Amino acid sequence: MDVKEKVVKEDNHSPLLSVEDLKITIQQDDYELNAVDGVDFQLKKGKTLGLVGESGCGKSLTSRSIMQLNPKVCETTGKILYKSKKDKSLNNIDILSLKSTGKKIRNIRGKRVSMIFQEPMTALSPLYTIGNQIMENILIHRTKNKKKAKEIALDMLRKVGISNEEKRFNQYPHEFSGGMRQRVMIAMALACNPELLIADEPTTALDVTIQAQVMELMKELQKEFEMAILLVTHDLGVIAEMCDEVAVMYLGKIVEKAPVKEIFNNPKHPYTIGLIKSMPRLGGNKNQRLTSIEGTVPLAINMRNKCGFYDRCIHRIEGLCDAQSVPNYQVSSDHETRCFLYKPETKEDHDG
Ligand SMILES: Nc1ncnc2c1ncn2[C@@H]1O[C@H](COP(=O)(O)OP(=O)(O)OP(=O)(O)O)[C@@H](O)[C@H]1O
Ligand code: SF4
Ligand SMILES: [Mg+2]
Repeated sequence: MDVKEKVVKEDNHSPLLSVEDLKITIQQDDYELNAVDGVDFQLKKGKTLGLVGESGCGKSLTSRSIMQLNPKVCETTGKILYKSKKDKSLNNIDILSLKSTGKKIRNIRGKRVSMIFQEPMTALSPLYTIGNQIMENILIHRTKNKKKAKEIALDMLRKVGISNEEKRFNQYPHEFSGGMRQRVMIAMALACNPELLIADEPTTALDVTIQAQVMELMKELQKEFEMAILLVTHDLGVIAEMCDEVAVMYLGKIVEKAPVKEIFNNPKHPYTIGLIKSMPRLGGNKNQRLTSIEGTVPLAINMRNKCGFYDRCIHRIEGLCDAQSVPNYQVSSDHETRCFLYKPETKEDHDG
């Protein structure tokens, strides 16, 4: 095999996105919040990774840092390596090292990587028509020709299931229902045919039927465009439906990561087990009792030398879990967890 052929082959298998030791610290008057604390994950072309966890565990900060969109109070370290499959100038670029107003980040943001935000109204301007807002990105990144840009925008509106698109194109966000605004956001996010879609709670504000439609739509468009999706949610049902791999986040850390089937069939971390037990099951006994995880997520302050889940964990080991930071343990080749129960020596005691 000559060298050229080898490079092409490696490129197809290498991840599109590698997040390495991402830390986001927020300095408050009297304390330092370690809101994201050493997050690592990878995402390949065409695949979906779910980032799941309770409110406040750092999902949005993690995902927004990929677009350099976090507020200035956030001090961010680590690496976010982006390897475009379409643009050779974006080959293993560390997004965090880019100038926030430079050409490269503008080329990544909105063109190669798009985001659907947790709250559609924060991303849509009330002052401009839907059509203008979808076209803006197309005119920056795809074509300077207004007529073509409008055709693309109308086509996207049709694709996301908005009928009467010519009329809708000239309407303002307040003339759309919550579900329709979410569809508009998806149309905006996909109008430039991105390689990576970051979807932060894309369906939380929607009723169940619309939620299912939007998920189905995202899957269809993913197939068509071969894009990767980073799906942020606190809903394990959505994860089961959509993802190839799952990263469970707790207090700024990924505490368990595995393929989706493995997470549901063989969860290891006590927090993941608690989340799954608190999930309602389709077809389950109507008298089934859902358990919830006792306690609430504490603030991520001074948690580096103990397990963040310690106070809520029924398996905690005094003198170990509250005395050291917890490393990642490999459960199998594609399954890892951050829990001392899976430290080889502890595991033997625990099993036997
Ligand atoms: N601008 C900010 N100033 C201060 N603290 C912040 C700021 N943004 C986020 N935080 C804090 O950082 C932590 C992580 O926030 P983040 O928004 O990433 O959580 P999340 O997992 O997305 O939660 P949710 O499920 O509620 O959206 C939280 O404790 C949050 O209060
Ligand atoms: S490390 Fe200890 S406290 Fe943390 S989840 Fe595992 S057993 Fe529980
Ligand atoms: Mg969030």
